[in-house]
Amino acid sequence: MMTGNSPRTTSEYADRMPFATAELTPRVGTEIRIDPASLLDGRYAKEIRSLLASRGVLVFPQVNMTDDEQVAFTRTLGIFALEDGVDGEIFKVSLDPRETKMADSLQASFLWHIDGTTADVPIFASILSAKRLASVGGETEFCSTYAAYDDLSDEDKAIVEDVVVHHSPVANRRSHLPEMSYDHYQRLRQRGADLPLVWKHRNGRKSLVLGATAEYVLGWPPEDSMDLLMRLRDWATKPQFVYRHKWSVGDIVIWDNTGTMHRALPYGADSGRLMHRTRLAGEETFHNA
Ligand SMILES: [Fe+2]
Repeated sequence: MMTGNSPRTTSEYADRMPFATAELTPRVGTEIRIDPASLLDGRYAKEIRSLLASRGVLVFPQVNMTDDEQVAFTRTLGIFALEDGVDGEIFKVSLDPRETKMADSLQASFLWHIDGTTADVPIFASILSAKRLASVGGETEFCSTYAAYDDLSDEDKAIVEDVVVHHSPVANRRSHLPEMSYDHYQRLRQRGADLPLVWKHRNGRKSLVLGATAEYVLGWPPEDSMDLLMRLRDWATKPQFVYRHKWSVGDIVIWDNTGTMHRALPYGADSGRLMHRTRLAGEETFHNA
């Protein structure tokens, strides 16, 4: 696995981009050095979206945007997605219930996941800016589910091609609520979705749809189902597919939610860690093919 402190290579895109870029790992993640003011008027939105699609994760080190600037920047890149249950345009990512009433549900962010696997159209991308850091932990990891699919053996590609997986919030909430009430379980159970394991995107590429919400493979015996989901999650999160971002205050990171999984590394609810999140609305369903 490579991190923000790893040696960087010159981007293959560098000679085509009107700003400085550097690949953070060979398979996922590009750092962009740019005047923050030039992000706000959309002049480079096309180039940024192109890099996001090809590299999965974009890092803008210490651009120190205000909330209004983050919202404006987000709007240059697509359709702004308001978040459920949140007043205003900024979602506070924190484990501290004094910061957000969503703190409890963010416990699931420690597990590899794709956002919105129970939505008809999952969000396209998320934009996180670092406001306060934990002194220990709190890095964010991303893996490329495009690269993980591409590098599967031909045998595994044949196995997974038409597999359908049931995703449910029951699966990821049980990690921190193993003895949730039956009423709670029933409410969560209503929000499941059956999704193809292989996402055949409009762009012609394929990616794996996995993560903590993946509960079982339709029509498979339980032990075979768990075996496949565990094996593929382990595969997709191998170091060659992963970028780990070690945050500095003021960093902005964008990830393509349709071609990556992500997770936070453990940090304390009392650590003070605070991120501000905005999102871009989804543009394609899991069921293109
Ligand atoms: Fe997430």
